[in-house]
Amino acid sequence: MDRPSSSRRYAFYTSSAGYYYHRYQLRKAAKTGGPIIDPFEYPIPGGLHTVLVVPNRKDNYTYVVLNNQTRDAVVVDPADPASILPAIEKANVKVLAVLTTHKHHDHSAGNWDMAQHFPGVAIVGSPTDNIPSLTHPVSHGDVLTISTLVIHCISTPGHTPGHIVYHLQPAAPEHPGSIFSGDCLFVGGSGQMFEGTPADMYLAMERLRELSGSTLVWPGHEYASPNLDFVAVLEPSNAQAVEGAVKAKERLARREGSIPSTITDELAWNPYFRVHAGTFDALVLVPGQPEAIRQHRVAVLAEIRRQKNVFSPGLTGGN
Ligand SMILES: [Fe+2]
Repeated sequence: MDRPSSSRRYAFYTSSAGYYYHRYQLRKAAKTGGPIIDPFEYPIPGGLHTVLVVPNRKDNYTYVVLNNQTRDAVVVDPADPASILPAIEKANVKVLAVLTTHKHHDHSAGNWDMAQHFPGVAIVGSPTDNIPSLTHPVSHGDVLTISTLVIHCISTPGHTPGHIVYHLQPAAPEHPGSIFSGDCLFVGGSGQMFEGTPADMYLAMERLRELSGSTLVWPGHEYASPNLDFVAVLEPSNAQAVEGAVKAKERLARREGSIPSTITDELAWNPYFRVHAGTFDALVLVPGQPEAIRQHRVAVLAEIRRQKNVFSPGLTGGN
């Protein structure tokens, strides 16, 4: 979502009136050039599933995850019906479920349209996040089996209270899984803590950091360039982040995104994943403090977030 300048503006955006504002923004984005990334297909190693990447608005990602043979599919965060419905028709898939990471309109505004176009489709999301057209409420630890897709639900509060990251299990142990991380985890960054605390976000990061390093990361926005620019300033000794910032710009110039990254990539360059690394301790270090390591790391995370807000005020949505 666009970065609100105040809590009042955020309250408006998340209201039903904000829904119509979102639809207005979609029309405006279509007139001013639309997405900055071109759509593409990504065969997940293992040969069973493919991810169709459908960019929309300016920098939002909607995903269609399908079985290559049966064409059974789930859709993740259909924010813009005008872009996702034609993409679904062209792909000739059968939509069985919609996975909603969180309530913001730039992730959930197409749920009603999906329910109308695909009668009986399961609309999945957290009951604590006011998800439109919700039919299948889920919470942390729930496992969804949808055709051949086995998906674990991971509660990741911080951006919103009911934010869920969906972890698609690998088809075989030697193949990578995928996470659809919404506005919790971006390439090189994380969504703003609109309705959560640094401790909430720390918990979310803790849960994602534990996943296999090969896990593919599919975020809700293309924010790699501004995020890695920030890391290059925050941690100039991080060669992978500095190089990643350059590559992200080169890819944007070709209308290519920086997705998917992997959990291994994020462990190397995402500061919200790296509060254990010691690199950032000086940001908030209290000399002589012998314990409360967790609280210290939460404070480090909060300080990184504060600096990011200063680094790019009002520049990018929810980032
Ligand atoms: Fe959001």
